[in-house]
Amino acid sequence: MVPLPSICIPTTAGTSSEVTNNIVFTDPTTRFKFGLSGPNCAATRALVDPEMTLTLPKGMTAATGMDALTHAIESVTSKGAYDLTRSLALDAVRLIGEWLPVAVSDGQNRVARERMMMACLEVGIGFNQSGLTIVHSMSHPVSGWCGTAHGVANAVLLPHVMAYNCSYDVEGFARVAEALGVETRGMSRLAAAEASVEKVRELNRMVGIPEGLAACNVKESDFPNLVADAVKSAGIGRNPRPTSAADIEEIYRQAM
Ligand SMILES: [Fe+2]
Repeated sequence: MVPLPSICIPTTAGTSSEVTNNIVFTDPTTRFKFGLSGPNCAATRALVDPEMTLTLPKGMTAATGMDALTHAIESVTSKGAYDLTRSLALDAVRLIGEWLPVAVSDGQNRVARERMMMACLEVGIGFNQSGLTIVHSMSHPVSGWCGTAHGVANAVLLPHVMAYNCSYDVEGFARVAEALGVETRGMSRLAAAEASVEKVRELNRMVGIPEGLAACNVKESDFPNLVADAVKSAGIGRNPRPTSAADIEEIYRQAM
């Protein structure tokens, strides 16, 4: 069956839905948030114009921008990554690291809005092929069960998952650190990879993301539901580090 034509016009620089084969649903009865993928889920045309984001409020700019950064870092380190998708994702990391704080502090800055939209476009084209890892596996249940905005849940979980994954893709995370502006000369590659985690924490602070999940309506009593849904995600299989349900629970705990 051929779907009706669709024209997508993004009004945030975040999801990349206009250039991916992915759509996301939340079942209101089970609170299960899940993605579907396939050519019939893609837009027929995308009209990508940064003008559409000029009036986006600070909080939405920060949350959606950190969603895009999460896509980019997950795309670099996904088991499905290859040279082309990594190049796109690393350029997106570079653009977001440089321009998201500007877009948040000065929403009318057209250069910042254009750079953010370009980053979003690049990484969408990339992660559509590489797939994502466990940040999204873990953030979807947080949104489904606790109502946390998607980008905020990703942003809070991102550094914790990076710390967990770091030693399993040292080169990938070291390149993320470099794309975020860390001077890595003289550092071991592992130290460079680890520096990417602190750099993302710093970026979260700069754009006003809450410190932990406890500030996002998550309680420890939610963990069984969160873990049960997270392990159903395809991102587990693409994560650079083998991940068990117990590992997922421990990352949630650390992110509180
Ligand atoms: Fe996302």
